[in-house]
Amino acid sequence: MAAGFFISKTVGIVAIVLALGAVATIIALSVVYAQEKNKVVDSGTTGTTTTTTTTTTTPSTTAALTTALTTTAAPTTTAAPHYPWNQWRLPTTLVPESYEVTLQPFLTPNADNMYIFRGNSSVVFVCKEATNLILIHSNKLNYTLQGSFYASLEPVDSSRAPLINNTWLEIPTQYLVVQLNGRLRQGRRYRLFTIFTGELADDLAGFYRSEYVDELGVKKVVATTQMQAADARKAFPCFDEPAMKANFTVTLIHPSDHSAISNMPAIKTRQQEIDGKSWNITEFGTTPKMSTYLLAFIVSQFSYVHMSSGDVQIRIWGRPKAIAEGQGSYALQVTGPILSFFEKHYNTAYPLPKADQVGLPDFNAGAMENWGLLTYRENSLLYDNAYSSIGNKERVLTVIAHELAHQWFGNLVTLQWWNDLWLNEGFASYVEYLGAAAVEPSWNIKDLMVLNEVYAVMATDALTTSHPLTFREDEVNTPAQISEVFDNIAYSKGASVLRMLSDFLTEDVFKEGLQSYLHTFAYGNTVYTDLWFHLQEAVMKNNVSLPDSISIIMDRWTLQMGFPVVTVNTLTGTVSQKHFLLDPTSVVERPSIFNYTWIVPITWMTRSTTGNRYWLTKVTETNNQFKVSSPNWLLLNLNVSGYFRVNYNQENWDQLLTQLSTDHQAIPMINRAQIIDDAFNLARAKYINVTLALSTTRFLSQETAYMPWEAALNNLHYFQLMFDRSEVFGVMTQYMQKQVKPLFYHYKNITNNWVTIPSGLMDQYNEINAISTACSYGIVECQDLATRYFHEWEKNVTNNPIPPNLRSSIYCSIVATGREKAWDFIWERFKEATVVSEADKLRTALSCSPYPWILNRYLQYTLDPNKIRKQDTTATINSIASNVVGQPLAWDFVRSNWRTLFSQYGGGSFSFSRLILSVTQRFSTEFELQQLEQFKADNQDIGFGSGTRALEQALERTRANINWVKENEKTVLTWFQGEVAPS
Ligand SMILES: *[C@@H]1O[C@H](CO)[C@@H](O)[C@H](O)[C@H]1NC(C)=O
Ligand SMILES: *[C@@H]1O[C@H](CO)[C@@H](O)[C@H](O)[C@H]1NC(C)=O
Ligand SMILES: [Zn+2]
Repeated sequence: MAAGFFISKTVGIVAIVLALGAVATIIALSVVYAQEKNKVVDSGTTGTTTTTTTTTTTPSTTAALTTALTTTAAPTTTAAPHYPWNQWRLPTTLVPESYEVTLQPFLTPNADNMYIFRGNSSVVFVCKEATNLILIHSNKLNYTLQGSFYASLEPVDSSRAPLINNTWLEIPTQYLVVQLNGRLRQGRRYRLFTIFTGELADDLAGFYRSEYVDELGVKKVVATTQMQAADARKAFPCFDEPAMKANFTVTLIHPSDHSAISNMPAIKTRQQEIDGKSWNITEFGTTPKMSTYLLAFIVSQFSYVHMSSGDVQIRIWGRPKAIAEGQGSYALQVTGPILSFFEKHYNTAYPLPKADQVGLPDFNAGAMENWGLLTYRENSLLYDNAYSSIGNKERVLTVIAHELAHQWFGNLVTLQWWNDLWLNEGFASYVEYLGAAAVEPSWNIKDLMVLNEVYAVMATDALTTSHPLTFREDEVNTPAQISEVFDNIAYSKGASVLRMLSDFLTEDVFKEGLQSYLHTFAYGNTVYTDLWFHLQEAVMKNNVSLPDSISIIMDRWTLQMGFPVVTVNTLTGTVSQKHFLLDPTSVVERPSIFNYTWIVPITWMTRSTTGNRYWLTKVTETNNQFKVSSPNWLLLNLNVSGYFRVNYNQENWDQLLTQLSTDHQAIPMINRAQIIDDAFNLARAKYINVTLALSTTRFLSQETAYMPWEAALNNLHYFQLMFDRSEVFGVMTQYMQKQVKPLFYHYKNITNNWVTIPSGLMDQYNEINAISTACSYGIVECQDLATRYFHEWEKNVTNNPIPPNLRSSIYCSIVATGREKAWDFIWERFKEATVVSEADKLRTALSCSPYPWILNRYLQYTLDPNKIRKQDTTATINSIASNVVGQPLAWDFVRSNWRTLFSQYGGGSFSFSRLILSVTQRFSTEFELQQLEQFKADNQDIGFGSGTRALEQALERTRANINWVKENEKTVLTWFQGEVAPS
């Protein structure tokens, strides 16, 4: 799966400063989405799979269902918790071989105003160990009785099958239980047959429905699926564990004017009258052996564009209007080349005859790698040249590469159980950059891993509440626990440590081991150490010299949480490591068998040379090569290929700063970003002074590269949040203006006055940084530019003159400086927007207003689904809260509407916990802490649901902020004053 709601980098940090009339006070508005770049993960965290609220939903389409529920009942289980059906994991007695599944979704509601599907399924399984019990997963399905039971059983190997004694649904553990009179015999095969109905709900899980309105204003219903992690059991009864691979033959019964697609191509379709209506019955080819979580089927009136790449048929599907507008062409154009890249990379042909990719109006995760039928959020597959920014384009490319990478790694070879999920997701999150780079070589996209994966996840991994990449198999059992493993540790730390591994092995050796792993385990299952084994073989074949075996080196990175800070003293050459914790006073409660020490691959350079990799294997060592003195300097972790931070003695820091201020290009671009990010984090953790961290941003007035700027803006954002209501912000604003002005003029110049688009990806991103920082910190020329665009647009509403890349920033500036008229104008454009990415930019910009009454009205709108779609409610409140004026209003709003918000979003949604964190992100006073504690006390009766942990984090963060501000405010004020004082 690809991560979920993704706010493009292009939005960046957008803060607006303006003088209000005669009042000299500067009010700063900031709308920050930077933290939302942190990928939000998958269905798991949004809770659709975790909130099994009631018992089975009862579509009550047949009277049989009601009868069924009364005639069979579970044996009373008062004091005996150890029945097999009370266990979350399947017993190992039975193993499925093949399924034949027929499903008929109804795309109009029934008499009870409910959307349902009907189905039947037969599964052939082998008995591995004699047993009188069949346990098969089933969730929210209602069964039609066959005789007196929910299922029938017959022998396949001409032996006899025992008779059924009892069947029932074990709701808590999601089983259909079939108890037999006699035992199934070891080595024999049997077929279990069931007939059932389920609800085609709009819950984004299992077999569900998605809706959209077509260009004629007609509501259209799509039946589609999301099985990962544990929702195939919501579509039909199945052995719903990834190791229970089988061949599947799917048949869909669908309206004749709707197309039906599944993992394999259709092999036959015929028309038939059913209940007086004409239906098509489409049968699909039998799949190779595969896991249930990768199944998919879709019935829709979508259209597609297609081409073939070698023997593989590629189709991009979506709403007919979107496809007609050409929004599928970028995806179509890149899919073939990415497939070819991975075929070479894995040295394995694409395993299926076709690859369908579908953009869905309602989708929980970012995308899902179903084998041969990949599903996406619209914004992750469809791309519109006229409306979409370069960030939207990068998103489409990397998500497609991520999902295609899984077609081999994950689908062809599958991890045994969800405890190893990090390898599946970390791997895809790593190679997505390789696949994307193959298609857009000029983008240098692999470099972005440092910001998007490494630094993004270090923020979480530096907390004591982090966790190791690997879990024990018995730590992950329930669907809720399975959902929880889909976090950014799995994705981004997984990607970061694999990148490091590949760097010290070299990509070629890594590839060789990988290919051998895939060839060995095709159609099978593995544990993560199987990959280490095959990589180790490649290491031996190629005589790669390592301080120890791969598994011994990698255990340090996968079995314990966190990462080290490596400290060098260039006067003595000593180098040492220590577990890096953002809060130095926090206590690590989780034990580690390695005592939080690592085997660290260190790349390095000095002013004059680049050295060979040095392996730090002990806590403290001495390396004479690290002894350098002025004017020479030492720099560790080139291109941040290693997953660790670096600290130096003051003398070396001073030399690095001097180098940056005289000729910053002598330090590689990624390491210029590293120096900034490491310094700010080291300051937070009290390894170095805050003034040293701030000093790393001085050279930015000479810098035009994106990565150093982005690193600085990310880190300065915290200062902005802490100080934008205080005296510090006045001088901070002057400093920011001074630093960003040269960048602003640089881009004005190279884009011919904002007309041409800079060529590279990162150049385009930094143009956006230049505009958003300049406009938000009150550079008049930038705000005038926004105003000019606005007036031009007003004159010709249907012809938006603003380049798509600049829209987020310019829209925000228009709303911030343009009074009520501007807000109304943007609101009108929002209401009529038909492209999702455009609507998102407009909706977000509306929160940039400096007027409390407008922001309050906008907050009210978020509770009216006719104005703001429900799925956008929390995101809208969050962006209002990011505005310094909107923050207290949003906090009041959330407090006074807690009951409503909770009942609508409290279940398990991730955005809900983000809501709590965002409305409290500026909290840094005792008074705010008291308010937060009061809020917690006042709402104990309602509760906080999925926001429970977020509330605790908010409390903890507020306390930390109070201390940080207390300790640093004076120093920071003085530093900024010194920087802006006339010299
Ligand atoms: C429905 O079946 C008819 C007859 O086989 C076929 O011509 C038609 O293409 C089918 N329609 C769809 C949407 O599959
Ligand atoms: C089942 O899958 C295997 C691959 O794992 C494949 O070789 C075989 O042909 C499939 N069976 C059928 C009946 O298609
Ligand atoms: Zn994935």
